Amino acid sequence: MCGIVGYVGHRNALDVVVEALRRMEYRGYDSAGIAILDGRGGLAVERKAGRLANLEAELDEVGRDRFAGTAGMGHTRWATHGRPTDRNAHPHRDASGRVAVVHNGIIENFAPLRAELEHAGVELASDTDTEVAVHLVARAYAEGPTAGDFVESARTVLRRLEGAFTLVFAHADHPGTIVAARRSTPLVVGVGDGEMFIASDVAAFIEFTRDAVELGQDQVVVITKDSYVVTDFDGNPDVPTQPFTIDWDLAAAEKGGHDYFMLKEIEEQPGAVADTLRGHFVDGRIVLDEQRLSDQELRDIDKVFVVACGSSYHSGLVAKYAIEHWTRLPVEVELASEFRYRDPVLDRSTLVVAISQSGETADTLEAVRHAKEQKARVLAVCNTNGAQIPREADAVLYTRTGPEIGVASTKAFLAQMAANLLVGLALAQARGTKYPDEVAREYEDLAAMPERIAQLLTTMEPVRELARELSASPAVLFLGRHVGYPVALEGALKLKELAYMHAEGFAAGELKHGPIALIEDGLPVIVVMPSPKGRAVLHSKLLSNIREIQARGARTVVIAEEGDETVRPFADHLIEIPSSPSLLQPLLSTVPLQVFAAEVAQSRGYDVDKPRNLAKSVTVE
Ligand code: G6P
Repeated sequence: MCGIVGYVGHRNALDVVVEALRRMEYRGYDSAGIAILDGRGGLAVERKAGRLANLEAELDEVGRDRFAGTAGMGHTRWATHGRPTDRNAHPHRDASGRVAVVHNGIIENFAPLRAELEHAGVELASDTDTEVAVHLVARAYAEGPTAGDFVESARTVLRRLEGAFTLVFAHADHPGTIVAARRSTPLVVGVGDGEMFIASDVAAFIEFTRDAVELGQDQVVVITKDSYVVTDFDGNPDVPTQPFTIDWDLAAAEKGGHDYFMLKEIEEQPGAVADTLRGHFVDGRIVLDEQRLSDQELRDIDKVFVVACGSSYHSGLVAKYAIEHWTRLPVEVELASEFRYRDPVLDRSTLVVAISQSGETADTLEAVRHAKEQKARVLAVCNTNGAQIPREADAVLYTRTGPEIGVASTKAFLAQMAANLLVGLALAQARGTKYPDEVAREYEDLAAMPERIAQLLTTMEPVRELARELSASPAVLFLGRHVGYPVALEGALKLKELAYMHAEGFAAGELKHGPIALIEDGLPVIVVMPSPKGRAVLHSKLLSNIREIQARGARTVVIAEEGDETVRPFADHLIEIPSSPSLLQPLLSTVPLQVFAAEVAQSRGYDVDKPRNLAKSVTVE
């Protein structure tokens, strides 16, 4: 949520910053802005509401040569405080125009700080929480104990700020220096040869360097072209940072011939699942990536909570069925935003599984912190190496999908489902609720899934055709049972977020308790059928549900295993998926729903990578 970048080096900073914003635009697209230090004591700023393209058009109009310089910063915004207008777009400047700031997060105590500034006669030019920071730094630089010291002025101000934030400051008097700080929201340093980068995401600088450093909590970094110096907010240099090498390349952050990242990411799903499984079954045992929990601690677990948001939450709902079945542990799946506010019963023998693609979702991070305060053990399932959630967890399993750039999760969602199943098997193995040969068999079934996903992806054209046909429909309902129920929820979420179409997912058994009242002539209802072999009883019950809705005029779209002939007479449209063990079926049944939502959205003329009002990672609560 909000992408920020800073650069000091030898290249044209405007080109570097604009390209970085392009790669991070998925983090927010309410406005974009840049500030370039010209090296002669000038600071040129341009900012524009809307997509990056608007800013670029503006830059072309005023002339890009006005922004010459080898240091600068940029911002792509997801609005929290203040409407997405030019005036609220970052960077913000002090009255002299010599100090600039960009910000990701929320400065929670901005109101008293704003009042203090107004009282001192400062005129604020925006409605944001951010702007106070730049005035405070300018004032600290102008007079008092930190006068003339840019870095110290920034640190003094940072100590006064509350909330979650990444802030980047530039000062016209210091054309070769950028100062950045983080609390809770992400910030990485890219270490180049005679150039340094800071950004919310490594995608911003992957083109130039793979050497990166993840900053810790409450740290300040000062970059020049040849150095980066990290301290805490007090200036103490003795602070932990985490250097790492980025293990994916530029191609992963490009569309590769597809119109949208999301379409590419749907196609990448077989590889994403295969890569996530790879290396986790060694000598007949499931192994995690980082395990700071002993087998004894895993044996002592008597309850599991899964916490997550959005699609990650749905992946947790799917996991519940397998984890309970394999381990006989009770599993509660909870929205991270609700979890800590209801005083959940947690202790040393509780395992909290936190699922987050980005590893930086504020609600999930706070849920993790709450769990740790209550002494629970935390296991993170995450797609971003070294992000805050895995850093604070006791054990980590990474989904290895490479960067997911489409705002709506696809490959990360499938990889999460696979990773969650590994977590279930690791627990079953440690607790002895499954024999080693049973664990091995389950793993083999899982390892066979990427091929089936690949096969399924070759059969999606009829789904696209159907999506085009139904794209004018005012609403679509989704029904499922057992693991098909969270798949129905995910299918509905995808359609809502991408196509802005009214969509609801229901447990099919609940149909007669309310949702059936929604059925009217021609309403499309997508039904996820369980396997006729694996879940025969549920299968026949769902068949009855389909009859009920068809009798009331619904247009039935049925996702069923190939060879499931019983369903054919009741399906106005049949989407066949390869057969698989019941607990693994969501790895397949989700795919047509993703394709469907993306195609409906495209037919309606929407940008599937950047749905309105959304951002890829939500770093505010
Ligand atoms: C946002 C994204 C979703 C994602 C959710 C949770 O809403 O648009 O695609 O599922 O955040 O994000 P996380 O990074 O924690 O998995």
